Amino acid sequence: MKILVLHGPNLNLLGTREPGVYGRVTLVQLDRMIRDHARRRGASVECRQSNAEGQLIDWLQGAEREGFAGVVVNPGAFTHYSIALRDAVAAIKLPVVEVHLSNVHAREEFRRHSVIAAVARGQISGFGPQSYLLGFDALAAAPSRRPIPRR
Ligand code: DQA
Repeated sequence: MKILVLHGPNLNLLGTREPGVYGRVTLVQLDRMIRDHARRRGASVECRQSNAEGQLIDWLQGAEREGFAGVVVNPGAFTHYSIALRDAVAAIKLPVVEVHLSNVHAREEFRRHSVIAAVARGQISGFGPQSYLLGFDALAAAPSRRPIPRR
């Protein structure tokens, strides 16, 4: 199984960006943690980061064609207002799990609302780098949770 991990805007600055909120783990270290986690579970991941909304949408649209079984996405600030990203998640057939390093519900009011969450399989928020690993595990378990088709 191959999972796509997408990091949205400003996540390239992890390690130095507001370390009190996001910690000191860099994006390179985070991606290594996710890859190691997947490998231990006999799966693989590809991690990509972009500050551009259109690029994230293109990756979501192409994920099935590229052979991915699901997507873990941290949409960054796009979480709170990007209807275009929301529509891309809704448009694709693959399961998508939304993850956040910080607990968005414990922060500013504007972070409490996600336009993505309602069209994602679910949302994991507040566990630092672990959020991505939990997101991966949720996706890995997702196929078995699909209802058995009626005959
Ligand atoms: C974030 C939370 C967002 O509100 C913020 O804009 C980010 C990071 C998180 O991972 O905690 O860029 O998605």
